[in-house]
Amino acid sequence: MCGIIGYTGKNKASTVLFDSLLNLEYRGYDSAGVAVIDDNKNINTVKTVNRVQSLIQLSENGEKIQGKTGIGHTRWATHGSPDIKNAHPHLSEKFAVVHNGIIENYSLIKKELIKDGFVFKSETDTEVVPFLLEKNYKVSFLESVIKTVQKLSGSFALVILCKDEPDTLIAVKKFSPLIIGFGENENFAASDITAVSNYTQKIAYLDDGEIAVIKPDGIKVYSIEGKLVCKEIKTVSRESLSIDKNGYEHFMLKEIYEQPQAFTKTAEHYLKKGDLSFEASGLDEVIRKIEKIHIVACGSAYHAGLAAKFAFEELSGIEVNVEIASEYRYSFPFISDKTLVIAVSQSGETADTIAALKLAKEKGAYTVAVVNVKNSTISRMCDSVFYTLAGSEIAVATTKGYTTQLCVLSLFALYIARKRNRIETQQLHKFIEEIKYVPLKMTEVLYMAEDIKNLAYKTVINSSVFFIGRNTDYAISQEASLKLKEISYIHSESYAAGELKHGTISLIEEGTTVFAVCCNKDLEDKMISNIKEVRARGAFVISVAQVGDKNIGGISDKIFYLPRTNRLFSPLIHIVFFQLLSYYIALKKDCDIDKPRNLAKSVTVE
Ligand code: M6R
Repeated sequence: MCGIIGYTGKNKASTVLFDSLLNLEYRGYDSAGVAVIDDNKNINTVKTVNRVQSLIQLSENGEKIQGKTGIGHTRWATHGSPDIKNAHPHLSEKFAVVHNGIIENYSLIKKELIKDGFVFKSETDTEVVPFLLEKNYKVSFLESVIKTVQKLSGSFALVILCKDEPDTLIAVKKFSPLIIGFGENENFAASDITAVSNYTQKIAYLDDGEIAVIKPDGIKVYSIEGKLVCKEIKTVSRESLSIDKNGYEHFMLKEIYEQPQAFTKTAEHYLKKGDLSFEASGLDEVIRKIEKIHIVACGSAYHAGLAAKFAFEELSGIEVNVEIASEYRYSFPFISDKTLVIAVSQSGETADTIAALKLAKEKGAYTVAVVNVKNSTISRMCDSVFYTLAGSEIAVATTKGYTTQLCVLSLFALYIARKRNRIETQQLHKFIEEIKYVPLKMTEVLYMAEDIKNLAYKTVINSSVFFIGRNTDYAISQEASLKLKEISYIHSESYAAGELKHGTISLIEEGTTVFAVCCNKDLEDKMISNIKEVRARGAFVISVAQVGDKNIGGISDKIFYLPRTNRLFSPLIHIVFFQLLSYYIALKKDCDIDKPRNLAKSVTVE
């Protein structure tokens, strides 16, 4: 989603803004812009529908936008097409504004402002903000912001400049994430900590309804009613700020290769002295009384939930519903105080997952967060938080985010099984041993990279690709298919292998590529039939099976053997094959792998 940076301090603002916007590029965007106040109190802007790099060229390395206070933005279009007139910052006579989120009542406000004589230049919801600020500007910058914000509904993070106070930024947060950063004689506002990572480790998270007045020598935070609020300043680790490719061509590839290490770190955190440890007040009592589990999430996090469902149900004997958060929030889920709701999210800021959680909390569920980003909104909302220790994930397509989510969910399933006395100690230790081998087996798949690259470069893809599997292999197929389409723009479908003949098999024709995931020995015969069905209709079948499972090879056009593991944990290992495959197919097509078109890393709007 949109990225925001605001700077006021001792240095040339444009340099800091460009540098920070480059760090925000990973979020995904389709236009970008900056505004800087000069010594004569003029606000100068530069905007582009290309990459941030072109802002640097257009402004002649910042020479055309001199000044020490400014704001910058990368826009992911919601209202209005991605063009210059809709790119931020949006201006009125005295104000410049950057915005993340959606102002839901903007059309009503816009009508009023038009009646007042304001002339709109863009199709955005944001442009009402500078005009409202202008209209409300009677006493001071701060007073105008407070009055304006009280009129807005929806979700927003705003950072605002005012000509009359050229060394001041005002930042406002309501439902969209915003942080403030503290430096020496310079301060910041930003949509996430990576934006300020080159300048400070000291940050504070704004809460909903808070307004920060940022000057070079200090920051004051107010409530929406104008009362001073005391904020806790946190020092974030260098590691969580690290956004270096470490020599890899893309962040996605680096993150794929980081998986064994990220997995180990995460697993070790929840396996203290070889035993499971999920400490949270009241949790064990809840585990004993719950009758069902809802897992709510979006995209790959939802797929992690689908893969984990098998372990939860089979090990703990509790019914699990895995729900797409954007559907759940508008449905009538049966939730009570005997429901455990697990929200899974890498960013911890996904708007639909947040809304689903709110609903669950209102209905009395005990809520657990499985998130990667520390202190994110979801982590702060839930009764218990179990972090994935993946480190920062920069590529839009999640890889280590997904596998570490699945790591926590699998261990949590075992923990619940133990607390409910559903598992023998010996069996539990067998599973834990199996999990300890996951990083090694992931590494074995990583060693196959050259073969996977060859496969990617040689595979002929017509109009569409199919991924088929059953049970946990179907869960792998779902994530594999999403990976391929999001970064390579190749249409693909994932299908439960047995469901294909109920309609979708009509799409199979001569040369259609079908990936068959056959890592479940118990269902091997069924998969053999499904492979034969599609091959009989002309499909070119590329199968993956576990080492030693010989029967699939003979009936496939190509076969790859992956490390053996317990079925419940196979998505953790076998997905790595498909992550690499998608990566190399996208590389061959010369796609923008880390920042695929139309996508955002953190979906903070509905
Ligand atoms: O930050 P979250 O885990 O809540 O994000 C959920 C999805 O938007 C995310 O997994 C998305 O599907 C990824 N681009 C998939 O690679």
